[in-house]
Amino acid sequence: MANHANADFEYAFEMAASGIRFGFGTTREVGADLADFGAHRALVFTDPALRCLPCVATVLQSLDDNDIPFTLFDRVRVEPSDESILEAIRFASVTPHDAIVAVGGGSTIDAAKAANLYACWPADLLDYVNPPIGKGKPVPGLLKPLIAIPTTAGTGSETTGVAIFDYKPLRAKTGIAHRRLKPTLGIVDPENTRTLPAAVAASSGLDVLCHAIESFTAIPYTGRPRPDRPILRPAYQGSNPISDIWSMEALRMTAKYLRRAVADPSDDEARAQMMLAAAYAGVGFGNAGVHLPHGMSYPVSGLVRGYQAPGYTVDHALVPHGVSVILNAPAVFRFTAPAAPERHLLAAEALGADIGRANPNDAGRILTERIIAMMRDLEMPNGLQALGYHSSDIPALVEGTLPQHRVTKLSPRPAGREELAGLFENAMSVW
Ligand SMILES: NC(=O)c1ccc[n+]([C@@H]2O[C@H](COP(=O)([O-])OP(=O)(O)OC[C@H]3O[C@@H](n4cnc5c(N)ncnc54)[C@H](O)[C@@H]3O)[C@@H](O)[C@H]2O)c1
Repeated sequence: MANHANADFEYAFEMAASGIRFGFGTTREVGADLADFGAHRALVFTDPALRCLPCVATVLQSLDDNDIPFTLFDRVRVEPSDESILEAIRFASVTPHDAIVAVGGGSTIDAAKAANLYACWPADLLDYVNPPIGKGKPVPGLLKPLIAIPTTAGTGSETTGVAIFDYKPLRAKTGIAHRRLKPTLGIVDPENTRTLPAAVAASSGLDVLCHAIESFTAIPYTGRPRPDRPILRPAYQGSNPISDIWSMEALRMTAKYLRRAVADPSDDEARAQMMLAAAYAGVGFGNAGVHLPHGMSYPVSGLVRGYQAPGYTVDHALVPHGVSVILNAPAVFRFTAPAAPERHLLAAEALGADIGRANPNDAGRILTERIIAMMRDLEMPNGLQALGYHSSDIPALVEGTLPQHRVTKLSPRPAGREELAGLFENAMSVW
């Protein structure tokens, strides 16, 4: 445990998470929640495909039943971009409301968080965005209440103070991270993933897996510089004893239930456990952070050319977030394992490996074998080449990763330009 001995380094960590309510059918309670918040008019965010599904109908019915008038914004872009985030902000800024409901996957919840922030505290888009891409200004004050109702078992965005979008000028994702951005309440209702296409369940579930392993293998929080003021302590602090518990449990649950949840949407137990796993991992990584698989995923998403993801009903080329992360994971964990072999072995054990007699030198291989087995069972593409990337794309992929300090600096093993190029080369083909 850290003490005050070295004034340059961090000595404390802090846990923050949204209030979480879990249960089948709890979506129906959202209207009563808003009434109890004293809300008079709600703004509801969702994406165009979800607009016609029962999850959104249930939310709107609950608002009607509780006499909460609402305005629906159903134009959230799947994998939001800077333009689509600005559209959501403009809409929130001119639409009267005193509370927000986000019903959808990470795309919807993140768009709603950003709209809430800039509508409450107007600023240039880059003002609150993570440095060095943005200015990283702290959120100046409280936001309006936001209830997040996830419809994927994936991002954990219902628990975190993070909003991610594709920043087109850089052709890479970036984000805003601040505790004040986190939803007031996350309603985690496994009814809402009943309609999830198998490909989305697989991709978003592998995002959970990476959240858990990356937060558990991130540098310890004591390895970061100490902030001048508590408000400047980042949301992503490095691994810490409380995040470890949530991340490891999320990993065990993902190992046990993800394949089942993908194979059979009527498997209530598996869907419920995956929704919990996503929220558990959200509490873990939302305070510890993620590292290279996520940092490298941001240009993999941003530089997409023609890839059409199976199972995603969208009108633009897109690499699903979970796919963009998991394809980097085997290369990264082979690279990072020598810096923290015990943690990589414990992650492998949570995924079912027998590590009783394992040699620490084999930690990367053992963990990677478990991840690849899961990827193959879930029919992931075999590496970045399957998305249309070639070795000639590596310089651009590296350029898009280098500014992702918020996450890359949490890697247990530093990765500069040369190391990242090697990692992308190794991620071209996974098995
Ligand atoms: N804020 C965070 O902490 C955080 C963490 C990880 C990822 N993200 C971001 O979240 C986004 C990805 O979110 P996601 O993986 O949850 O998916 P998503 O919101 O992008 O949705 C993926 C697709 O699934 C569909 N869909 C979602 N739920 C459905 C349901 N129940 N039934 C039928 N179709 C459904 C959507 O319409 C969409 O076509 C990315 O932009 C990523 O960067 C944010």
